[in-house]
Amino acid sequence: MPSSPAPYSCGDNKSFAFVSVRERWPHIITSAIDDVHRTIMAFTSDVDSKKIEEGKAIISSLTSLKYDMEHDRQLAPFEGPQLEKNEDLVDYNKELERIGPLSWLSAPWLYSECYMYRLISTYFTGTQHWRSFDVYHRQKTEAFKASKDGVIELAVRYKALSKQLDTPDISLDTLGLLFREFADISLWGNATDLSILQHMSLEDIKTLQGAEVRKKNEENILVNDLDKVWDTISPDVSDPYTQTRIDFVLDNAGFELFADIMFVLFLLDSNVANTVVLHPKNHPWFVSDVLPVDVLDMFNQLGDPSFFETKEHRSELDYLVEKLITFHSEGRLIIRTSPFWTTYHSFNQITSTGAGRKVWEDLKDSSLVIFKGDLNHRKLVQDLEWTRTTPFTEAIGELAQSGVRVLTLRTCKADVVVGLPEGAEEQLEKAWVEKGNANKLGWAYSGKWAVVQYSEGN
Ligand code: F6P
Ligand code: MG
Repeated sequence: MPSSPAPYSCGDNKSFAFVSVRERWPHIITSAIDDVHRTIMAFTSDVDSKKIEEGKAIISSLTSLKYDMEHDRQLAPFEGPQLEKNEDLVDYNKELERIGPLSWLSAPWLYSECYMYRLISTYFTGTQHWRSFDVYHRQKTEAFKASKDGVIELAVRYKALSKQLDTPDISLDTLGLLFREFADISLWGNATDLSILQHMSLEDIKTLQGAEVRKKNEENILVNDLDKVWDTISPDVSDPYTQTRIDFVLDNAGFELFADIMFVLFLLDSNVANTVVLHPKNHPWFVSDVLPVDVLDMFNQLGDPSFFETKEHRSELDYLVEKLITFHSEGRLIIRTSPFWTTYHSFNQITSTGAGRKVWEDLKDSSLVIFKGDLNHRKLVQDLEWTRTTPFTEAIGELAQSGVRVLTLRTCKADVVVGLPEGAEEQLEKAWVEKGNANKLGWAYSGKWAVVQYSEGN
């Protein structure tokens, strides 16, 4: 078998990895410092002084991390009492020993980025008072609040649609069309993650949401396997005896989660799926990724008249909340986490013998596993420098034969792109340069294009 290509590296100055380590991550760390600082400043005088002390120690750890990164220092192994309780940290250390020593500019991109977010999380989990503090929570909430127009547009669309779903003789073709529409909504919800939009105003984010933009973006879906997916799952849909379970390996909170939830509601309401399992992360991750508490927060925010102030459309929002709570309490909407999602491992490890075997045990029983977003996609295709025409099923390695049906909904925000038809790459580069961009490779991480790719699992 030919050997696999090299991983994308932070030292490659033509890659988005380089921009990340040089600009994006220091900026993300600065925002985190600012958040802890603001939190401390808002404490009332009766706060436990240990809490302030611990907060200051977190700021100091974050500051050193930023300094080390900017001075290209070495990545240090995890140490201290947390190692004993967290197998994944031991695993991070083993990998560092195997591939290291690494400096920030010589490290593989995927490993170093996961390492950074996991390291930041230990600054909090190692304390008494900040262990469940989400340093990105404020940003997530502000961005979601600013998504009001997009949220209301979808809520209105959903309520109108659910009347149609109630019709007993709704055809399989209509369901197929709706399946594609909601997958599309969920896909483009991924255009608005906070780790990449740090420089964008909340106003700008708003313009990325909404039906018109999605329509315009249709031609930017470079590969679209949705027909294949529908062909695979629709026979089960028409058979009342088959239990269909669909899983979402979630990406970002806020508008993206809301868009995913719309898709979930459609799947459950239409009985395309009997159950849906959501997989959020265990630790604050890549700034905006969903934590279990974010899902429940969202139910509350949607139902809170002071969060989205609207008299005109309150009933549509309440309608959604009622449905969500019902599905959740009936056990048709399940939330399940695993420490695997915050490891550095690629998803070729989701097999009966790989590092992701516990996740595999779970996912093998699903009818379809939808992986949301860019990081999940990078982990699917192992973040390796594949040629762009490499078939998706080759790039995901053993996962392609694992019995897990995989669908990836990803807007392209990193260097790796696979599965393109011959000649597409050249055309994209040409068009990108003609638009006045200096780096012809930049189209791949601009977030303007998307891929919807499928693997049958055998
Ligand atoms: O920073 C790396 C990266 O994976 C980018 O490629 C992307 O912009 C961001 O993190 C997270 O994207 P997503 O939320 O879609 O996984
Ligand atoms: Mg994310």
